[in-house]
Amino acid sequence: MTLAGRMFDLVVAANRLPVDRVGQGGIGWRRSPGGLVTAMEPVMAGRDGVWVGWAGESGPAPEPFTENGLHLHPVSLSPVEMREYYEGFSNGTLWPIYHDVMIPASFHRGWWNTYRTVNHRFAQAIVEVAAPGATVWVHDYHLQLVPGMVRALRPDVRIGWFNHIPFPPVELFAQLPWRRSLVEGVLGADFLGFQRTADAENFLRVCRRLLAMKTDSDTVTFTSPGEHPTVRTVRASAIPISVDFKGLDALARTPQVIARAAQIRACLGNPETLMLGVDRLDYTKGIRHRLKAYQELLQDKVITSPQVTLMQVALPSRENIDAYRQLGQEVDGTVRRINGKYSALDSAAVQYLHQSYPRPEMAAMFLAADVMLVTPLRDGMNLVAKEYVTCRHDLGGALVLSEFAGAWHEMHEAFICNPHDIEGLKQTIMGAITAAEDERRRRMKALRKRVADHDVQWWASLFFESLASAPLKPHRPTHASDRQQRGVERANSADQGASESASERSSH
Ligand code: G6P
Repeated sequence: MTLAGRMFDLVVAANRLPVDRVGQGGIGWRRSPGGLVTAMEPVMAGRDGVWVGWAGESGPAPEPFTENGLHLHPVSLSPVEMREYYEGFSNGTLWPIYHDVMIPASFHRGWWNTYRTVNHRFAQAIVEVAAPGATVWVHDYHLQLVPGMVRALRPDVRIGWFNHIPFPPVELFAQLPWRRSLVEGVLGADFLGFQRTADAENFLRVCRRLLAMKTDSDTVTFTSPGEHPTVRTVRASAIPISVDFKGLDALARTPQVIARAAQIRACLGNPETLMLGVDRLDYTKGIRHRLKAYQELLQDKVITSPQVTLMQVALPSRENIDAYRQLGQEVDGTVRRINGKYSALDSAAVQYLHQSYPRPEMAAMFLAADVMLVTPLRDGMNLVAKEYVTCRHDLGGALVLSEFAGAWHEMHEAFICNPHDIEGLKQTIMGAITAAEDERRRRMKALRKRVADHDVQWWASLFFESLASAPLKPHRPTHASDRQQRGVERANSADQGASESASERSSH
């Protein structure tokens, strides 16, 4: 079906489309990685909207097309843009800053310029397909300038932005030489959604402390830049993302998935305890800490393999970025060391799987695992935690969850750990392994109820309602002081892109 020229009342924009081109030159499509796609796919499935995003390879964008009932509108990225906008500014500058600077962030003015160029391309693509008065929902840190750019091009549409990752404390955000432009960019939206209240509060604090904007409860008053400034009030609040509980629960109940779960356990020699980790291979996910804890438990003979086996699925991610390649090598080395020392002839102590799997296979793995290890050092939400409990209709299994995952705020009945504290992590893992059946079931029941009550459709409805009730009417500034304040802040701001000097940057 051709989509060319069609306009939509709902336009979703995210860096990635829900499907990626497979193979150079594109021989087919496969599901894109990450929580954003997991959540948004079922949301879009029930709505006649269009998804604007990148198709996962460089070069000209494919024509708009429909895949599995989803209308997709690809945006192109050149090889340089992939390097500078995606790997560079999005994942080498913003990602580390937004994740506690676990690795140093890199600041390059060239990356910033490319980020602006690509954001502008997304904004253009959005306005091309947005019907008059459409709802435009922009996602994540890759597209923070898009709300402001769309508003400038099409003041008739209603714009929401949702940040899937943490929003950093003001002290970290302040490092960004382009901090004002980034904030002004998202403030082009009518409503801003965050995973946790703490993220929304961090954002409001940035507006107040760094940019001298007025905030009141969960709103910020923003005077737009430009010749004819307008004053708008924008709400920023927490709406925690979730999973398609009904769909995934039904999948995990199918005889095929149940049989496959038993088969997986049998393949691994029917261990007494099968532990599972499922993560993108990302330094934020705490995979190294998890392996260290497991290795020490084996070393201390608190557990033995194959009675206890760890299956670690590490989905390939951002492999052109040094920090990710290095992590991959470290994890490979650690897995080899653990297996060399603790594996039995017929079963590995760590089953390490560096590839992605279809949903039914993932559901089977979740159903097979006695203990699920979700131990990120920092994570916006972590939908794997919610997927795991969704699949446990049998009330079996135990979830070990880091207090640094956004999911922790809703999942207190999990076995909670601080992954930096290796001793504590070992104790928590042992607590989950040895917990009485009754206790596990009680915890799992509560966790499942929470996710069932707050599933992804609940999340999307709440987002749409918040966006629909966002204050609409912009007005002209009434006080000279509004403009004056902006003048002072402008002079201090060092976010003028290519024209910015090194001394301006170091003034932050
Ligand atoms: C996180 C981000 C998503 C991103 C996903 C996968 O979940 O919030 O926006 O798509 O990671 O990362 P990738 O770089 O492969 O898109």
